[in-house]
Amino acid sequence: MIRYRKLGYVELMVTDLERSAAFYRDIVGLEPAGEGPDGGRRFRCSEDPYAVVLHKARQPGFRRGGWMLEDERQFASLHAALKSAGVAFESLGDAECKSRGLGRATRTVEPNLGATLEFYLLPAATPPKPFVPTLAKIQRLGHVVWATPQYEEANAFFRDVLNFAQSDSLGEGITFYRAFPNPYHHGIGIGRAARNHFHHLNFMVTEIDDVGRGLARLKAKDVPVVYGPGRHPASTSVFLYFLDPDGMTLEYSFGMEEFPEIGARAPRRLEPTPANFDSWGSYRDPRMSTTGEIAAYKVTGAA
Ligand SMILES: [Fe+2]
Repeated sequence: MIRYRKLGYVELMVTDLERSAAFYRDIVGLEPAGEGPDGGRRFRCSEDPYAVVLHKARQPGFRRGGWMLEDERQFASLHAALKSAGVAFESLGDAECKSRGLGRATRTVEPNLGATLEFYLLPAATPPKPFVPTLAKIQRLGHVVWATPQYEEANAFFRDVLNFAQSDSLGEGITFYRAFPNPYHHGIGIGRAARNHFHHLNFMVTEIDDVGRGLARLKAKDVPVVYGPGRHPASTSVFLYFLDPDGMTLEYSFGMEEFPEIGARAPRRLEPTPANFDSWGSYRDPRMSTTGEIAAYKVTGAA
């Protein structure tokens, strides 16, 4: 039983690094946190050293994501689970860990989405540093969602191999999971689509005013708002989705159901009606969640 702390970082591919770095700082409200080893731009929005890294690429999309494990012992559980599922994985070398500010990490590729997933701990001597908001009072990186034609298989991988806990699904079109025993309703979502793609990245904010002010800021800067403000009945979150300069979908959300580790309610299947996606009935722009590839990566290192 693998135990997680949280979704720790998401690395995105953008076509114009300067343009996107300015957007994530001045519109989204992330704090620049220096450069990674390959010129990636790091940003903070929590007590961690970084939560988002932007990389220059020809196509926008998802490069990789990192889940913080609960402790050192979880690596053995993770490796055993991947091994018994026949899924290749590799340990990051010391040099890569050091340059990326990680203490220890294992990397694998989700066999259906093709998404690169990393599982890590920070170095033991990493003091938490408060995030000082400048725009939205972001609390944390909330969740990442992908979509795939291999919907059942991807769901089975996260649920049965990685021990993610299912919270809810909307029909047979999208399912939400928490990185057990993280309490928040979802840290990932898996949607059904005709091709594998990145769907959206979420930031959880502190108050409803962050959503209202975000809406005003986005409109003032002509940033496309593609869904919301509205409320997702499944998670109870108030949401606002908008597009980054490459057209990738980002989300602010306020509030979310929290689950106890023991005695959590059973997952529900909600009918995929418009009201079950948004009880406020806002307009959903067809550009939402259409842009963003999933970077290919092949595991070659040794476990
Ligand atoms: Fe979301």
